[in-house]
Amino acid sequence: MNVAAQKQTSKPIGLFDSGIGGLSVYLHLTEQLPFERYIYYADTLHVPYGNRDSQDIESLTLSAVKWLYERGCKLIVIACNSASAHALETARLHYPQLPIVGLVPALKPAVIASKSAHVAVLATKATLDGILLNQVIANVARPNLTKVTKYFDPNLVPWVEAGMPEDSITAQDLRQQLQWFAEQGVDQLVLGCTHYPFFKTFIQQYIVEQQLSMQVVDSGQAIAERVKQLLVSHQLLAPSISVLDNEPLSNAISVYPIDGHTQWPLVFYASKYDDNLGQLIQRLLGTRTLVLSPLIACYEP
Ligand code: DGL
Repeated sequence: MNVAAQKQTSKPIGLFDSGIGGLSVYLHLTEQLPFERYIYYADTLHVPYGNRDSQDIESLTLSAVKWLYERGCKLIVIACNSASAHALETARLHYPQLPIVGLVPALKPAVIASKSAHVAVLATKATLDGILLNQVIANVARPNLTKVTKYFDPNLVPWVEAGMPEDSITAQDLRQQLQWFAEQGVDQLVLGCTHYPFFKTFIQQYIVEQQLSMQVVDSGQAIAERVKQLLVSHQLLAPSISVLDNEPLSNAISVYPIDGHTQWPLVFYASKYDDNLGQLIQRLLGTRTLVLSPLIACYEP
């Protein structure tokens, strides 16, 4: 490989979400692509996006994509269903040469797996109203005569951002909602927001306790597979041992996996930093992660 090609392949993958939800996608990416470098941008100043209007979401997302593009990312993942629903197409039009991957709730596999022909999608209002999900409903659910129940609780994203305290009213509401879904015959539950896989275990525990027959699906793994495919087809896959020096990145949180699962630390930027952010990242990424200072937000939209 020549030096120019090596430089391209060693560039980072950019991940964007309104908050820390996109870290659920990052976890899948590091499993499949451990030799890649990752830069994460969380728009914590404007989270949640889910109840914002379409124009607002589009302009916030385009600013974030531009920022990641200017950091030299070779591929960008809009690791947010709400942002993808309202800005994916426009972002691709702005950067036709750049592979951009967006998220859509994993409704298609849920419809295929459903025996009761009734699935529920938990997502934000922006995702539930957005074009991407509604296309899947029209093209996959309807022809398969599958009922889709949409559900949005505006407290779920702030609950995850707060570290998911189990004694909160949101946790209680979620349990009640699961019970109601079961009573309605829902057998597939789609987590259509990247924040939600962080409470997948909480949901699964309740399903087991109550002996509900319900599967929980999300799109994290499929997205990581898609990213891998694109890197291969664009000849952008990082070499297993990087030949380039790691450029120093200021104003970011560097998140080091202690067990060396990934080769590079995750470089995490946020539009608003508060004291709990480092701790929350560490909690969500697992105890093997060490979050290092400086913990400074640098992005001004
Ligand atoms: N993680 C975002 C998503 O996948 C959260 C949306 C929000 O900020 O409300 O939709």
